[in-house]
Order: sequence, then C-alpha cells, then structure tokens
Amino acid sequence: MALLEGRRLSKRFGGVQALTEVDFAVEAGAIVGLIGPNGAGKTTLFNIVAGALPPGEGQVVFDGWPITGKPAFRICRRGIARTFQVTRPFGEMTCLENVAVAIVNRRPDLGRAAWGPMAMEYLEAVGLGALAETAAKHLNVIQKKRLEIARALATEPKLLMLDEVLGGLNTQEIQEAVGFIRDLRDTRGLTVFWIEHVMGAIMQAAEKVIVLDQGRVLMVGTPKAVVADERVISAYLGT
Ligand SMILES: Nc1ncnc2c1ncn2[C@@H]1O[C@H](COP(=O)(O)OP(=O)(O)OP(=O)(O)O)[C@@H](O)[C@H]1O
Ligand SMILES: [Mg+2]
Repeated sequence: MALLEGRRLSKRFGGVQALTEVDFAVEAGAIVGLIGPNGAGKTTLFNIVAGALPPGEGQVVFDGWPITGKPAFRICRRGIARTFQVTRPFGEMTCLENVAVAIVNRRPDLGRAAWGPMAMEYLEAVGLGALAETAAKHLNVIQKKRLEIARALATEPKLLMLDEVLGGLNTQEIQEAVGFIRDLRDTRGLTVFWIEHVMGAIMQAAEKVIVLDQGRVLMVGTPKAVVADERVISAYLGT
C-alpha cells in the first residue's frame, strides 16, 4: 500500500515548467529512490510534499490524508520529515540544541532533563555524539548533513525524505551511510524517499526508483531495470 502518493502534480515558476502531471507512489516500508538530471524537478517535488511550496495543480495524499497545500508544520506532525539539499541548521546553537528544537516542537512539555538525553540519542545515531556541544556553524558539510538527518529523525517521522545526503562522501563513507539508512528502515520501520545522484547507493538501497526528467516521470522500476533503460541512460546516466 502506498504511504505517500502524488497525483498529477504540476508546478510552474514563471517561465519554467518544473513539474508536469507527475504521478508517483511511495510504498510503506520501502526505500524509494528519486533520480534525474539537474533541474529535473526532484527538489521541487519534495518541497511540494513537505509543504514548503504550494503545488500548481494536483494532489498529495499521505497515510490516507490529503495534505496538498497544508502548512509544513502540520505535514511534519502527520509524520513527514525531510532534509534540505542546502543544509540550514541554527548556526549559533549547539548540535544538541538543534536536535532539541525538533523534539520540543513536538513535545513542548519536555524540559532539558528530558530532551537532553533524547537529543543525544539521535546525535549518536548519526555519529555526532562527540560534537553535541559544538555550535552547528563549526560543522563541515558532511557533519551538517548528518545533523539534518538527526533533526529529521527527532520529529519521529513515518516518512523520511532525503535530498542528496551523500554528496562529498568517499566510497567507504557512502557504504556506511547506505547501511545506516537501511538500518533506519529495518529497525524503526521508516519509509524512505531518497533523492540521490550517487547511483551506487540507490542501486544498493532502493527497491524502486522513480526517474524524473524535465519535470516528467520518465520511468519507474527496480534499480536494475532503471539503469538498463535506454531512455534513462540517454537522459541521465550517460552524461
Ligand atoms: N523557487 C524557485 N523559483 C524559481 N525557479 C525554481 C525554484 N525552484 C526550482 N526552480 C526551477 O525549477 C526547475 C527544477 O528545479 P529543482 O531544484 O526541483 O531540480 P532538481 O531536480 O532538484 O535539481 P538538482 O539535481 O540540481 O538538485 C529548475 O529549472 C529550477 O531552476
Ligand atoms: Mg535538487
């Protein structure tokens, strides 16, 4: 059954048709990859699902609820968390406090004694435990991506949407990250919707891949089928 569904989503920015009648589904418990060339509309699709942008046309249904055009905080409370392609932590706050914001937002009743250990758990889950008291502005790009994931997890989502979290990682770090994300799915029962240019990671982790090209769905299939498809090769992989 689909946890998340988009129906005929279209979005225009001035003269740019970013999405055209996009239909897609993300099955509960799956890891679904979203790939395609630069400017294909991937982040725009995430922005619409997460409520950061109103869609031009079409509907988004999450867990049986129509969420189209709802404010981001409501969509988050329903159980969707996302990371940003360009990370945006609260730079002056520590890593621990950054994660705490996500917890307290959901549980305003909690004091530091309660949220401290909770936030620490999420930081440790992404390997940032040692940097808990460091201001977020001092993190490098990779650490900022990890902090994004910790903040997203702290909202206790059903669906985690990742926007290019592997950029800048070496081969071994990519392996670790893929293991970590698969673990999240397996142990927390999370569903993952994942934009990634690192094809090796999508090949290993995803059960299904959606290919966007120029705002349209070019293909949906298993990773194996997608990388062997002539249209996908010429629109994306061949370049
Ligand atoms: N807020 C915006 N205002 C105007 N144009 C936008 C806006 N957001 C995206 N676009 C345009 O919409 C198109 C799709 O952009 P989008 O960021 O969704 O692509 P993408 O698939 O995420 O690309 P990338 O792989 O480079 O991240 C591009 O032409 C982009 O310039
Ligand atoms: Mg993008």
